[in-house]
Amino acid sequence: MRILRLLALLLLTLPAVAQQGGMWIPSLLKGMNEKEMKSLGMKMSASDIYDVNNSSLKDAVPHFDGGCTSEVISPKGLLLTNHHCGYDAIQSHSTVEHDYLADGFWAMSMEEELPNPGMEVTFIVKIEDITNQVLEGVSLLKSEEEKQKKIQENISKLTNSLPKESWQENMIRTFYEGNQYMRFVTETFKDIRLVGAPPSSIGKFGSDTDNWVWPRHTGDFSLFRIYAGKDNRPAEYSKDNVPYTPKHYFPISLGGVKEDDFTLVFGYPGRTQEYLPAVAVEQIVNVLNPAKIEVRDAALKVADSYMRKDKQIKIQYASKYASIANYWKKWIGETQGLKQTNAVAVKRAFEKDFLARAAKAGKTAEYGNLFNDFARLYSEIEPYQLSRDYFIEVALRNTELLTVGYRLYQLEQVYNARGEQSFNDRRNNTVASLEGTYKDFSKVVDEKIFEQLIELYATKSPKQFLPDVLKNKDYKALTQEIYSQSKLTSYNGVKELLQGDAKQVMEKLNNDKGYSLVKAMATAFIENVNPKYEEFNLEIAALQRTYMKGILELSPKDARIFPDANSTLRVTYGKVKGYEPRDAVYYEPVTYLDGVIEKYVPGDYEFDVPQKLIELYNKKDYGQYGENGKMPVCFIGTNHTTGGNSGSPAIDAKGNLIGLNFDRVWEGTMSDIYYDPLICRNIMVDIRYVLFVVDKYAGAKRLIEEMKLVDVKKK
Ligand code: ARG
Ligand code: ASP
Repeated sequence: MRILRLLALLLLTLPAVAQQGGMWIPSLLKGMNEKEMKSLGMKMSASDIYDVNNSSLKDAVPHFDGGCTSEVISPKGLLLTNHHCGYDAIQSHSTVEHDYLADGFWAMSMEEELPNPGMEVTFIVKIEDITNQVLEGVSLLKSEEEKQKKIQENISKLTNSLPKESWQENMIRTFYEGNQYMRFVTETFKDIRLVGAPPSSIGKFGSDTDNWVWPRHTGDFSLFRIYAGKDNRPAEYSKDNVPYTPKHYFPISLGGVKEDDFTLVFGYPGRTQEYLPAVAVEQIVNVLNPAKIEVRDAALKVADSYMRKDKQIKIQYASKYASIANYWKKWIGETQGLKQTNAVAVKRAFEKDFLARAAKAGKTAEYGNLFNDFARLYSEIEPYQLSRDYFIEVALRNTELLTVGYRLYQLEQVYNARGEQSFNDRRNNTVASLEGTYKDFSKVVDEKIFEQLIELYATKSPKQFLPDVLKNKDYKALTQEIYSQSKLTSYNGVKELLQGDAKQVMEKLNNDKGYSLVKAMATAFIENVNPKYEEFNLEIAALQRTYMKGILELSPKDARIFPDANSTLRVTYGKVKGYEPRDAVYYEPVTYLDGVIEKYVPGDYEFDVPQKLIELYNKKDYGQYGENGKMPVCFIGTNHTTGGNSGSPAIDAKGNLIGLNFDRVWEGTMSDIYYDPLICRNIMVDIRYVLFVVDKYAGAKRLIEEMKLVDVKKK
């Protein structure tokens, strides 16, 4: 194992042997990846995946509502994504009488499909390198600030002027940290209707306990449909809209998967930081992650203790809890993984090698000082970064009284900057949008969270930026004072504060104890922390750009250097593969319905199983979806994915759909910073489990009928 790790250490400098990883730009596969993909078993060509003139796989993979990925799986615009990506939509249609989260939802005809105002999916029409146009006139400029300003100007000019159809958009993004720019022509559809969702006991089976963990048994999927105008183009919602006819949709394979099969995952990974210097990784491991984890740990413990004993609080906090727990758990896994794989040492070794290459190429003047500069800047930015993280976690993320207070603070800013009219508009929006916040707000829970978090903030965040009101206080007493006096603890209280003309509102706000505290914290942050933070950050970004340029220039010709994720469409590929998380432990790559039954805890909120599913299991009634008398549920592979890849299609060697990506394994959650092919795995639902649930569990045969099933086993 150790030796293998050391080999992995040379990941970036080794030629493409038994290593994968990387999130590749679809339009550049031909030159960069096609050969390797074929050597791994792919039977398609690069142009089957991405093509501008003919339909290709990319035409079936839209970005789902800005955060997830989805894929078209029928000629009538049927769309597949994760349950956790459709969660809010499913929740929004739910009432006590029709709880679609608990019981699932299945539209039995198109008329029953439910519209979701505001929901969008975006297709990529084409991708073009426009680096020269974006960087025009930039090299002449001296300061980093001027350069960035010019780049932004060029980008907005090009966004408006580059030719496209009237119903399309231009979107420009940077790759390789400012070394390359690409334009995307996109088409955004706005009439997206909910078609089906399994109950949470299938779609969210295992919940937070199983989140980020293998072996996994979650049927994490939901179904939507894209509707278009009669001309098949994007249109606002209308009941006259028609199902969208896609340029491509995925045939679905019933052939199944086995270890070492080729897989490709196509989607919109959000953000990775694979090229950080060692000092930055060290800071994440030792300083930043532990601080954020500690804050969320405290908040989650409080919420959990109330959720366990109070049904209403359970419902109110379920979604918030899941979203806070998601990254809390990820940071813990990430920190552990970075330590276990010696990521810092790996990066150091890489840096040493990099400097040697630079020297050999006669480029010491350009690159020789990089790591010293990084070390200085990361040490300088540390207190600002940490203080910022504390502010975001405590005030903007985990304590709702402070979060609401901050929105009112922004209202005051709007008034100061733009006057009464803008104030009025903003006030009305704020009042309207806070209704939902307070619907799920519990004063007792928030007070307990506040008490814990404000003390952490006051004692652990860098002292020099603390507002006076928080220095050396009795935090229990402060909490009591605020929660007994502030109007921010109820919706009526907030509405009362916000009534009257701007002057009156300002006066009431500034007399409120809760508001005054937020204002003191926000002012300290905005005046003393953020400007310096941004200044250092700009310098770090400039260094990172130089470092990236060096990596691209100095690495061997066949090095596999992929751009960090930036929410644009990427291809990642690998094989179905188990892994060895610890000495003497090997994880198989496939799970079965038997595992669901093993985990079953009747009535439990995480591990309950629907009766109907148990019956199907007992009868082994799997139809054409089972395999040797068993029902496959999930599988893992070496595809390099991150947040945003949820809902991405998992595709076989021939371009058929075999699964749906939704998570990563615990030991490999550090892959956003350091990808180790030995233990980084993505988790996918087997497409046959999806079809089994749609067909056998829900009886939604009409949906199966509109799909194209291939590799059907003859029985
Ligand atoms: N960890 C996965 C991702 O980052 C799934 C999250 C949703 N599931 C949950 N139990 N919170 O999105
Ligand atoms: N669960 C993530 C998502 O929602 C995927 C991941 O982080 O692996 O995009």
